[in-house]
Amino acid sequence: MSILQVVTYPDERLRKVCTPVTVFDEQLRKLAADMFETMYDDDGVGLAGPQVGVLKRIVVMDVPVDSTVEETPDRPQPHFKEVLINPEIILKSEPCRSSEGCLSVPDYTAEVDRCNRVTFRYQDLDGNVHELEAHDLHAICVQHELDHLDGKLFIDKLSRLKRERLKIKYTKLKRAQEHR
Ligand code: NI
Repeated sequence: MSILQVVTYPDERLRKVCTPVTVFDEQLRKLAADMFETMYDDDGVGLAGPQVGVLKRIVVMDVPVDSTVEETPDRPQPHFKEVLINPEIILKSEPCRSSEGCLSVPDYTAEVDRCNRVTFRYQDLDGNVHELEAHDLHAICVQHELDHLDGKLFIDKLSRLKRERLKIKYTKLKRAQEHR
């Protein structure tokens, strides 16, 4: 396994609509394993293909199934730890506000509109189809990550003024990094 480079805003690869995965092979498993390692290395709970420069409909996720129950080292809670291939949201309900961040928009969090409950469908690494209902953090994470597959970021939901400020800030940051 290896840690992949995380693509950061405003890289254009984060703006592409990703293509479905059609081949379920060893290479896909390796990509998923690398994505998990990259996500854990950055303390993330979800990571989508375009965030590592792969414009395919693949997401890795590791979130508590019920985030309303407190998780402590001596009382670990069950997690939804899965690779989601070609995932889609079938149903959304209970509009809510969620505080979000993204490994592709480092050191920034903001409150955005989401739904607190989703039903979604995905394929696993063997191509088997699963359908599941999620709530709270799990549901938010599904919405956030699936947006990535359509070239959308959580900051798109902010006011135009905030978005413009962010774009200037992150463009400068990127230039500074490139010139290091
Ligand atoms: Ni993200």
